[in-house]
Amino acid sequence: MILPSLGKAVGVRRPLICTERKLERLLAPSVGKLSVSLGGAPVMAFLGGERHKGRSAKERLEDALFQAGADRGSILVSVGGGVVSDLVGFTASTYMRGIPYLGVPTTLLGMVDAALGGKTAVDTPGGKNLIGAFHPPAAVFVCLDLLATLPPAEFRGGLAECLKHGLFMDRAYWEWLAGRDLGHLREDRADLARLVSTSIGLKCAVVDADPEEASGRRNVLNAGHTVGHALERLSGYRTAHGEAVAAGLLWEAAAAVVQGYLPAAELAQVRGGIEALGFSPAWRSLDPREVYEAAGADKKNRSGRVLYVPLKAIGEPAFPPPHTARLDLRALRAGAALLNTCHH
Ligand SMILES: NC(=O)c1ccc[n+]([C@@H]2O[C@H](COP(=O)([O-])OP(=O)(O)OC[C@H]3O[C@@H](n4cnc5c(N)ncnc54)[C@H](O)[C@@H]3O)[C@@H](O)[C@H]2O)c1
Ligand SMILES: [Zn+2]
Repeated sequence: MILPSLGKAVGVRRPLICTERKLERLLAPSVGKLSVSLGGAPVMAFLGGERHKGRSAKERLEDALFQAGADRGSILVSVGGGVVSDLVGFTASTYMRGIPYLGVPTTLLGMVDAALGGKTAVDTPGGKNLIGAFHPPAAVFVCLDLLATLPPAEFRGGLAECLKHGLFMDRAYWEWLAGRDLGHLREDRADLARLVSTSIGLKCAVVDADPEEASGRRNVLNAGHTVGHALERLSGYRTAHGEAVAAGLLWEAAAAVVQGYLPAAELAQVRGGIEALGFSPAWRSLDPREVYEAAGADKKNRSGRVLYVPLKAIGEPAFPPPHTARLDLRALRAGAALLNTCHH
């Protein structure tokens, strides 16, 4: 059980549990236990969802913290998915010039991605995650039981990031993952533990090597996201992030074949693995020019150049980071054509 070590991480500080209202109800027994084990820590609950991850949500949380008497001796305990950890983490980074926080992720994406690495942010009308800070959590506690209530679509969202970890950093993990049954991954305790712990290890290794995104080593974590973000934008954000990333991994792998980074034979394996886990990226219905233009509008692509991390082989990026390659329209077009003809 993680509760004793959580208590240790809190130490002599005064903990305040921060979560979203929906989870306060849905995970009531766990939140209740957590509060009791932390000496009756108060629970602050706010509205969740991406719509409530803006600057005003941060102000509301700050005001609630003042009311609850939080001070420099406090520690926030974030219980929730990436929306909660981004908001709570960023609030902690500026509250009275910065107080610590702990992460208790409740989504797969939170466990393997959002709660790790110290990036925290809120959304603005100018774009997602544009105002934020590097403020690493004092510790992150992962309890697989918390995933029991997670809707299947949210589970798949996290799985897309796990695929990214395997595809770019660990071939054995990719092969294991690509051959797994989706139901098994979720229901089988050993499978779930392997999934979560391997991905956490892979992400943390990259973050440790480049904590503040200074050397560019973290670029590898953006794999699949150049095209993925473009697909999200083109859909008016109706396509879920994980689905867009799975499709992005595939499009970018096809572009890497066209540009001579990845042997064509590997592309069929990439497609096979992604589809075996139930992702069916709709590249047929997408116009490469629109994808290219939407990718060019991304905040990460400075001076109009569309950059991406090409794959060299399954488990390995084409260059040692920080290098990225330029994604051009020709590669996207030819890549899309290639995808139509490649079969596992
Ligand atoms: N800081 C980072 O490094 C980083 C990395 C990746 C993503 N993010 C951010 O994370 C957010 C996405 O994270 P997310 O997918 O966890 O979103 P989320 O926090 O909105 O959670 C997704 C949905 O699942 C629900 N939920 C959460 N836990 C549940 C549980 N145990 N049972 C049932 N339902 C549950 C939530 O209420 C929500 O409806 C985005 O805002 C993104 O920008 C941040
Ligand atoms: Zn992502």
